[in-house]
Amino acid sequence: MSKYKKRFIGKDNGKSYQERVGHWPKYDFLTKNSIELANFLDSHKLLKDEINIFEMGSAGCRNLKYINDLNENVNLFANDLNKENSFKNMHNSIKNKVKFYESDTLSLVSENEPDVDIDILISSDHMMHIDKESVIEIIDKIKDKWKPKYILLRELFSKDGEETNRIWPRVYHEFNLEDVYELVDVGECSNMPEWYSLKLYKLID
Ligand SMILES: C[S@@+](CC[C@H](N)C(=O)[O-])C[C@H]1O[C@@H](n2cnc3c(N)ncnc32)[C@H](O)[C@@H]1O
Repeated sequence: MSKYKKRFIGKDNGKSYQERVGHWPKYDFLTKNSIELANFLDSHKLLKDEINIFEMGSAGCRNLKYINDLNENVNLFANDLNKENSFKNMHNSIKNKVKFYESDTLSLVSENEPDVDIDILISSDHMMHIDKESVIEIIDKIKDKWKPKYILLRELFSKDGEETNRIWPRVYHEFNLEDVYELVDVGECSNMPEWYSLKLYKLID
């Protein structure tokens, strides 16, 4: 189980945190980030009918909602720490579509293999909140067992932004995907481009 997990659950099962980061977030830039992420995938013509898209640490699935706006004919999967509070902060248009796993990401990938082929796996502002050792394990499981066709990361890619002594730590990770995945494109983030970017990886055949 990831080291910082309890900080995201707090004393209220994540209720107040999920209100900050759900579909109607405390800060407007989070909505902008989601639209940017959805458009980035769309610019690569990846949002094809019937594909399976899985977001780890999805909160209220704001990213999946804006993806679904671009193509409603996709299948959506997600995990986060508390289902009830994620769903309270989810847009109605996707509530009946999202297959949601209430699970710590490390436990999820260690204990399960997906029962469908995942076309696109997303981690956005998520793995940066997990400790380094756990993310090394998560990435290994993804490379060895989950093997999504594409991985989209919107994470902290600058060591300058790393700060682990705050309630919600920001951790820099190396990710080390390149032995199994090819980096296809890097997109600029409008919010804090010096720290964050969008990185799209494709499984090497
Ligand atoms: C900053 S929010 C990001 C939400 C969304 N992905 C986005 O792009 O806006 C981080 C999310 O990661 C979740 N989270 C943190 N640690 C986790 C863990 N170990 N396993 C699963 N989810 C976790 C939190 O509950 C929260 O919903």
